[in-house]
Amino acid sequence: MTNVKAKNFPKDFKWGVTISAYQNEGKWNTYGKGKSIWDTFTNEPGFKKGNGNVATNFYHHYKEDIKRAKDLNLDVFRFSISWARILPKGTGSINPKGVRFYHDVINTCIELDIEPWVTLYHWDLPQTLENKGGWTNRNIIDWFSEYVEFCTKEYGNKVKKWIVLNEPMSFVGLGYFMGMHAPGKKGILNFLPAAHHTTLCQAIGGRIVRKNVENAFVGTTFSCSVVKPVNRLVKHKRAAERIDALLNRFFIEPALGLGYPTDSIPGLKQIENYFKEGDKELMQFDFDFIGVQYYFKIVAKHSLLPPLLFATEIPATKRNVKTNNMGMEIYPKGLLKMLEKFSAYENVKDIYITESGVCFDDKLKDEKIKDKNRIKYLKKTFYYTLMALEKNSKVKGYFAWTLVDNFEWAEGISARFGLYYTDFVTQKRFIKKSGLWLQKFLSKR
Ligand code: BGC
Repeated sequence: MTNVKAKNFPKDFKWGVTISAYQNEGKWNTYGKGKSIWDTFTNEPGFKKGNGNVATNFYHHYKEDIKRAKDLNLDVFRFSISWARILPKGTGSINPKGVRFYHDVINTCIELDIEPWVTLYHWDLPQTLENKGGWTNRNIIDWFSEYVEFCTKEYGNKVKKWIVLNEPMSFVGLGYFMGMHAPGKKGILNFLPAAHHTTLCQAIGGRIVRKNVENAFVGTTFSCSVVKPVNRLVKHKRAAERIDALLNRFFIEPALGLGYPTDSIPGLKQIENYFKEGDKELMQFDFDFIGVQYYFKIVAKHSLLPPLLFATEIPATKRNVKTNNMGMEIYPKGLLKMLEKFSAYENVKDIYITESGVCFDDKLKDEKIKDKNRIKYLKKTFYYTLMALEKNSKVKGYFAWTLVDNFEWAEGISARFGLYYTDFVTQKRFIKKSGLWLQKFLSKR
């Protein structure tokens, strides 16, 4: 593998880093903030992986943290707004302290000359709205619209880059089908309405951004995975196709006017039970860009469960491959495949890799973290991104996940993804070797 240099990338290629509100902010029930589904989920006695009540205390460390991003020579700082910090009850009265906080974050970015990219929804639904059914309730369209209207009118003169949703399949699949993430709901009867309302909000949110923000550049992000069948048997190939449709096509294709991928998953036609007149048009929106977020590869096989999908994954831990410390296969080449796949959609304009990263059990020793494995990962990832560019993919930027080790959802603080190490007791941050490497890499542009 040749040694990739930052100079090899186009001049206007954007380099950034992504964080999210729940995973970083802390101050979960103070400064006027309402509870989100993640506050509830992680503070239940049955949840054993800690909580994000303090997280990395970004609420009080935002200035130094944004400076840390700038110090890495990055162009973009992507963060999300916590809906319940702005609208503690989801709708209705506004929390002025919350509104001020995001002004401060945005102003700090502007002062430090690092561009703010704002995600409107990174999984932390206000609990009051979940009490009314959350994403399964079609009224979410009004609730979400009210929130997006407010944010875009409030910050739209300073922020031009907007992302409507972070990885819909992750929060709908894990939160409303598997019950592994907040709000812990399960089954097809939760999944299908939640998914359809999410698809609608994705497009409606896009339209609101475009209406309210002059010169807006609006996108939305998708999780994706390379999916391979366990062997060449037709039934396993079909199983892989279904998982691919679910993970990689489900939310982008309706936005592009192609509808849900019922060609591969016929049972998915049931989702039409939740359609109202005009929904097919309402689901479409011509995003200026899409965000691709890639972490791991999946090997699929045919199975009698779960319903609709009739396919399961063979865990990477049983396949004798390299894994990260969440047990997912590390496969940087998959990014190339994903960039090719998404670039092939005619109506996809620009693509940004809005998240990419790897978690290890990093150890702090003499204030140093020697994460050679992460450097290797970054090198390979950049190599395949460059290869994608050479093959005319539409990729325009790379944002690393993430700045500092943070609260990794159902994994708690054990999965460290940061370019900086967080000591969760003292809240001190230490730059990792990978952070230093990236800093140097980007200094030679
Ligand atoms: C999410 C992040 C998460 C990361 C690593 C992405 O799916 O957007 O919030 O921390 O993956 O698991």
